[in-house]
Amino acid sequence: MSSFVATTADDTEAFRIKYLGTKGLVKEVMGEMKNVPGDRKKEFGQLLNEFKIFAEAKYTEIQSLTDNKDATSENAGFDWSLPGDPLRTGSRHPISLVRNQVVSIFQRLGFAVAEGPEIEDDWHNFTALNMPENHTARDMQDTFYISQNPDWILRTHTSSVQVREMEKGKLPIRIICPGRVYRNETISARAHCFFHQVEGLYIAENVSFADLKQTLYFFVQEMFGKDFKVRFRPSYFPFTEPSAEMDISCLICGGTGCNVCKHTGWVEILGCGMVHPNLLENCGIDSNKYTGFAFGMGIERITMLKYQIKDLRLFSENDVRFLKQFTAAT
Ligand code: PHE
Repeated sequence: MSSFVATTADDTEAFRIKYLGTKGLVKEVMGEMKNVPGDRKKEFGQLLNEFKIFAEAKYTEIQSLTDNKDATSENAGFDWSLPGDPLRTGSRHPISLVRNQVVSIFQRLGFAVAEGPEIEDDWHNFTALNMPENHTARDMQDTFYISQNPDWILRTHTSSVQVREMEKGKLPIRIICPGRVYRNETISARAHCFFHQVEGLYIAENVSFADLKQTLYFFVQEMFGKDFKVRFRPSYFPFTEPSAEMDISCLICGGTGCNVCKHTGWVEILGCGMVHPNLLENCGIDSNKYTGFAFGMGIERITMLKYQIKDLRLFSENDVRFLKQFTAAT
């Protein structure tokens, strides 16, 4: 019995018929019982019983083996040479690609990355930035408040991270702060209730507006190439004085005027200025000794210009047909 090899369900059935069937060996030997002399019947009966139990156990064992083999033997009909299902890899989101690129350009100039919380308090988002309560400039940034605590808001810009860094008191400071920000805006092709910024801050002795301009010239050339014009326009931010906005000539029409540049030939790409002395003092930095510049840009705006994307909503709709077009190389 031990030499029996069962490889298929048919083999197992053959085993059952041979040993345990109605005409099988177990039954046959049992039939011999009547020929056994009375004084040996007990001994013979015990042996017979052991034989029967052994045969049944063996049957169960080979049955489970051939059951498993059957599962694989079904696969035996499978054509292993067929090509496999393609493994689809994801791609980086265009916003991440551009953020990484902006970050790496400034890292080459020695800027370090700093991050802060998205739920901010009033001090870091507004008051320390020279926008005390009731300051009209707060109106420029429609704010989401958090109902549990009137002091908490969703940060409206990453300038709050600059305040946190200045408060640490370690000078000089040369940081860029990439991150998500929130404003209570109606969602449209040009605005969203959340978007992304990169802000930069440089504070040291003798930092000048010329340093700011040169840093930003370097940035736009690295980002967009050399084939366009740049201009600075005077502007206003409560946290910088003087303040400016930087425009580049429209990359789409080359400056002749189109929908993207609203027929002006220029597109605004960032706000900047010299850090207001009040800010330095608010954060415990001696404004007689130190000066600095700051700038801030929307990553969506830069990405739209770079890839000529016309609708901001595409960035948050997760449509794979849109997302898969972007690779690190483009
Ligand atoms: N925080 C400003 C904004 O969100 C941008 C900015 C940053 C302007 C730093 C000047 C200096 O619009």
